[in-house]
Amino acid sequence: MKRIAILLSGRGSNFKAIYEAINSGFIKDAEISVVISDKKEAKGLEFARDNGLNAIFVNPKDFGDRKGYDLELVKILKNANVDIICLAGFMRIISEEFVNAFENKIINIHPSLLPSFPGLNAQKQALEYGVKFTGCTVHFVDAKVDNGPIILQAVVEVKQDDTVETLSDRILKYEHKIYPMAVKLLVEDKIKVEGRKVIIFD
Ligand code: GAR
Repeated sequence: MKRIAILLSGRGSNFKAIYEAINSGFIKDAEISVVISDKKEAKGLEFARDNGLNAIFVNPKDFGDRKGYDLELVKILKNANVDIICLAGFMRIISEEFVNAFENKIINIHPSLLPSFPGLNAQKQALEYGVKFTGCTVHFVDAKVDNGPIILQAVVEVKQDDTVETLSDRILKYEHKIYPMAVKLLVEDKIKVEGRKVIIFD
């Protein structure tokens, strides 16, 4: 049984997609061991609590700096003995200490085709740039923002009359497909990382 941790800051729709993929049996032999949020009121944390999961709010204000905060997360995650850590709308940059403690175990979803439009408001960046296609990316997390080796991507068309909201909604549907798929591949040990390249095998 693989143990999964979810880190989130808000709505948690990607977390729910992973949760449902486990419940439906799409992802087998895995459980969500802990859900951590840096925001007390995060809807995702509420959903975790309502569904009997181990839901923990870790307040950044209780720690002097990023490193202190991240070391607390490392402690919780090591204690929970997790195998895979999914950042699911966790809106904090994570430190080298955190990344190094879980090499090739932390993954993230980002609402663009990386390396285009890293950072905040990726959908708005795509609209303003005028690209005709954008999408979403699941990638391993390294010490740089939205930078690690790419596991899966989905391409989404940008329509002429798109707003940030309509484009974000269209991308989100694909996020909910590729994030559970990537978790499934990891749970089944079907992923190998070679430098920047992620090899997927059967
Ligand atoms: C998602 O669109 C995710 O790709 C994005 O935040 C949203 C979280 O939604 N993440 C980033 O922009 C990370 N750089 P959710 O809380 O409903 O999953």
